[in-house]
Amino acid sequence: MNYPFWNIPYLGSGWVIGIIAIFHVMISQFAVGGGLYLPMAERKALKEGREDWLKQLQVHSKFFLTITGVYGTVSGVGIWFAIGLTHPEATSTLIHNFVFGWAMEWAFFLVELATAAVYYYTWGKIDRKLHLTVGWVYAGASAATLIIINGILTFMLAPGDTWLSVAGTGKEASVFWHAFFNPTYWPSLFMRTAVCLALAGIWALITSSMIDGDEKPALKTTIVQWSVKWPMASFVIMPFAMIWYLFMVPSSQRALLTLGIDTIGQGTFSTVTRIVLVVIITSATIVGVAYQLGYKNPRDFNLGTAISILLLALMATGAGEYSREMLRKPFVVGQWMYSNGVRVRGPVRSVETYNRDGYLKDSMWVWGGDAATTSSYSRGEAIFRGECSSCHTMDGYRPVRQLLAGRDQQNITNFVKMLHDHKPDSPYIKYMPPMVGSDQDITDLANYLNYQVNPPGAAQQTVTRN
Ligand code: HEC
Repeated sequence: MNYPFWNIPYLGSGWVIGIIAIFHVMISQFAVGGGLYLPMAERKALKEGREDWLKQLQVHSKFFLTITGVYGTVSGVGIWFAIGLTHPEATSTLIHNFVFGWAMEWAFFLVELATAAVYYYTWGKIDRKLHLTVGWVYAGASAATLIIINGILTFMLAPGDTWLSVAGTGKEASVFWHAFFNPTYWPSLFMRTAVCLALAGIWALITSSMIDGDEKPALKTTIVQWSVKWPMASFVIMPFAMIWYLFMVPSSQRALLTLGIDTIGQGTFSTVTRIVLVVIITSATIVGVAYQLGYKNPRDFNLGTAISILLLALMATGAGEYSREMLRKPFVVGQWMYSNGVRVRGPVRSVETYNRDGYLKDSMWVWGGDAATTSSYSRGEAIFRGECSSCHTMDGYRPVRQLLAGRDQQNITNFVKMLHDHKPDSPYIKYMPPMVGSDQDITDLANYLNYQVNPPGAAQQTVTRN
């Protein structure tokens, strides 16, 4: 590996991205859905001559600007920060392939941020029609950000055959549109659009729950009911979108969904299946609660309920993003780059070259320099961090110490060899990449792991030094 490793004990670096990303997705999808909600509501208010709606929309657009403009943008930058540190190899692939995609994305961000601010600050100050137009421009720009980012996100799950045929040749950018409109592009866009619409209504329930129902019964009733319709509409679209999406996911990855049912072993992937169920159940609860407490009883709809619905939506979003991540295992870029940055094939930093040259050949920063002078323990630790820590920690999330507990040195070595050989009948092949490197690397990693599992002082500890 050619980048130093960012070690996050217990949590694992993947979760650093995950936590920021779930938070960001909740807000950025609100930014897209809410971008449509605002001008649609404003148009309705203008048409029906409802001044009270216009006042309320002004309140909501301030909330919208704060949440999306502050928390949305900061968390978006946070994702870049985290992925750059956690996954330099994959981040570099995404930048190199989609340079113009990112450029377009940032141009639209700029329009989005500018129009959101103009929209809020010009309420009652400019011609009403012009104000509504600003809202539509915002809606268009924010929809464009989704249309673009969706191509890049779905690429990571299924880059498509055309891109894969040129991957690693330096000509990847020439098939930009193939990579962009990859097999899961449309179903994913459809699905995310449905989520955006749901979130627009759910976030709007926060501001509308704060309207005094005794003082302004008509306003509260109409706004709450109109907002509840958004997640309800989305809930009707969602099942179709999900089925279409799963249908387009490469079959090797779809197998991960059923793996949990097929395997009886502890752990493995039953989580993906369970997490998908969480998405479905929480979404159904959201719609049930919003309908019963919001649509049917809008005047008494309170902030507590609105926040509960928002938290359920956070759970559903988190679970949805988590299962998307899990579906991609063991790859970060489907069929091309494993989660730990090792390429499946090709002339650089691939399974083949690492097996031939050793894993740490380019790791200039490993303590003490090259393999000849560094201890087996240090090399083992560096290999563990580079090859395993994108998915495991020692003691926290997916803890290797615990997963290997009870095995002795020989047993651990056999396990590492099995990962290394990556035979088609290996039970690990579906969700773990091969362990790559030389025979010395296998020994170093096994020694390091044994040292962790069976610490010195306990029996059979065999750390060797060169
Ligand atoms: C792409 C992600 C990923 C990478 C990289 C990865 N693993 Fe795993 N590993 C998993 C998953 C997922 C499981 C199953 C989850 C569970 O049982 O909690 C697992 C399970 C294991 C187990 C338990 C196996 C069993 O029989 O129960 C061990 C031990 C293990 N991994 C060690 C390693 C080592 C050592 C490396 C580095 C050479 C590594 N893993 C790299 C994802 C990964």
